[in-house]
Amino acid sequence: MAEETKVRTYEPPEEFARDANVDDASIYEEAEQDYEGFWAERAREMHWFREWDRVLDWDPPEAQWFVGGKLNVAYNCLDYQVEQGRGDKTAILWEGDEPGDSRTFTYSELKSEVERFANVLKGLGVEKGDPVAIYLPMIPELPIAMLACARIGAPHSVVFGAFSADSLRDRINDCVAKVLVTADGGPRGGKVTPLKANADEALEDTPSIESVVVAQRSGEDVDMAEGRDRYWNDLMDEADAECPAEEMDSEDILYILYSSGSTGKPKGIVHTTGGYLTQVKATTKWVLDVKEDDVFWCQADIGWVTGHSYLVYGPLSNGATTVQFEGTPSYPGPDRHWDVIERNGVTIYYSAPTVIRAFMKQGTEPIEKHDLSSLRLLGTVGEPINPRAWEWYHENIGKGRCPIVDTWWQTETGGIMISPLPGLTTTKPGSATRPFPGIFVDIYDEDDNPIEGAGKGNLVITKPWPGMLRTIYKDPERFRKTYWERLGDKYFVEDGAERDEDGYYTITGRIDDVMNVSGHRIGTMEVESALVSHKAVVESAVIGRHDEDKGQAIVAYVILEGDREGSEDLIKELKDQVRKAIGPHARPEEIIFTPDLPKTRSGKIMRRVLRGVAEGEDDLGDVSTLADPSVVDDLKEARS
Ligand code: WT7
Repeated sequence: MAEETKVRTYEPPEEFARDANVDDASIYEEAEQDYEGFWAERAREMHWFREWDRVLDWDPPEAQWFVGGKLNVAYNCLDYQVEQGRGDKTAILWEGDEPGDSRTFTYSELKSEVERFANVLKGLGVEKGDPVAIYLPMIPELPIAMLACARIGAPHSVVFGAFSADSLRDRINDCVAKVLVTADGGPRGGKVTPLKANADEALEDTPSIESVVVAQRSGEDVDMAEGRDRYWNDLMDEADAECPAEEMDSEDILYILYSSGSTGKPKGIVHTTGGYLTQVKATTKWVLDVKEDDVFWCQADIGWVTGHSYLVYGPLSNGATTVQFEGTPSYPGPDRHWDVIERNGVTIYYSAPTVIRAFMKQGTEPIEKHDLSSLRLLGTVGEPINPRAWEWYHENIGKGRCPIVDTWWQTETGGIMISPLPGLTTTKPGSATRPFPGIFVDIYDEDDNPIEGAGKGNLVITKPWPGMLRTIYKDPERFRKTYWERLGDKYFVEDGAERDEDGYYTITGRIDDVMNVSGHRIGTMEVESALVSHKAVVESAVIGRHDEDKGQAIVAYVILEGDREGSEDLIKELKDQVRKAIGPHARPEEIIFTPDLPKTRSGKIMRRVLRGVAEGEDDLGDVSTLADPSVVDDLKEARS
């Protein structure tokens, strides 16, 4: 970030460091010398039905961790916690969209719900290995359904509740799910998302779905298809109470989660069992410093990987109390998060830059109304945090007392990869600092050579790690091509990064055709294919323009058919088209009609030029490789 060149550094506060889960820096060196041994030690902190024979088999790009080991993720998150005396401890502290609307589940209660729902799934014919699609709002039924899947060895595929019917349909069809778990409607920010109605639209074209389970949340009337749709509560009433956890192989699939890439089709990222839980559990303990008395709040939606790893599996496998919040930061007022923190005594708050920047804009008044003294640690994830937002977060939310962990990772990595350890690491605002012990990263130049010392280039992960994606569901070739073709046995991240003289990493953003809008990952091609499916559009090119609040805003350049003229109505139609195809979070901010696009002689669109125009830059750099440089003037004119 250009806004500050020299930033100050922050030592871990003494009191925090004294009690931190990790306080011995020698762990970095130990893990470096024997990373398999390091991860095996972490894995031993979990419950295994059978210990592994080998820690790692690495046949690039195929990794297997804890080979031959048997375990169950739900057992680790529930039974194992109850066995350790946490039966009466609050596992999930749910807070609804309306302040004061809350539900809590102790570990014993959660275990019972999960066992019962696991039997519901079995009753619907779900067997070990059968993917289950879950399209739910942020209600307790969501983690219950996920854990129930994990308990019987059915991979879950959670589809974010704001995704459209079309997106849901494609995700169901890609993984060929037999069962869909959804809800009538999901309240959020005082409005209700009609999930069942969306699902019904998707279900018109999902031949594999045999049964639909409908949780009741909003209470509105929904269509229930005879023989296919059943209410959650009715099924739960009929189900047996006990369901033993399946002994899963360490490399059995735990879940599939779709994520955007540089083609129009999202990738089904596959995570498996033993390695994933090892990394997620260890990073929750070491980075997020979760302890027995903490109230841990990861404010991400469970529909994204952050919610999977740090709202559900990480905290529960550590026996922590995890907060699940249904609402938005601005409803009913701009102080809602601070209200949630104060009322629930939240001690650790894991948030995102886009949310923090929105708070910054509102000033400190909403914060001053609340007592935030329960907080002791703050986190951020999802996109680069600019130093000014970091400092603001530190000063106004953490009151200068709470360390901040800026955690870099991806859907693909499963868990945190680069981050401070809050009791050990001196932080620098804007920097994710150092790789987690046992994780190895580097920076390579454009010719794929490692850069020595300080420098800037492409981020690379140089050794396998336990939480790594194992493949793209049913598309191993795309898995190999996307991440491994370029460097063979090293993982190409598709993020740019900078390393300073202390070896600290600052992530600068994506280098591929993927946008990051308010922490949501959206492929330019996905938006482009939504636009060209409108009959008026012949071609489109989409870019992410820098945006103060959202990180990036979507700008679409559109070439219309024949002599059709652009109009306000058409702009609205096109924006709606994208919303319908993907979801409201992907709706373009700006549509620019243009007669032509800037292409090289080989036909490749120069996105750099489009970005420059959208950001109002006069100097667009070298445009001599354009097939027709006069396009640039047309574009500038189209925008004005
Ligand atoms: C991309 C992954 C990881 C969960 C949420 C997003 C960006 C993520 C940071 C960070 C700078 C970050 C990267 C990454 N990103 N965290 N702390 N600093 N950039 O998961 O949707 O898979 O997106 O988010 O560009 O590649 P995702």
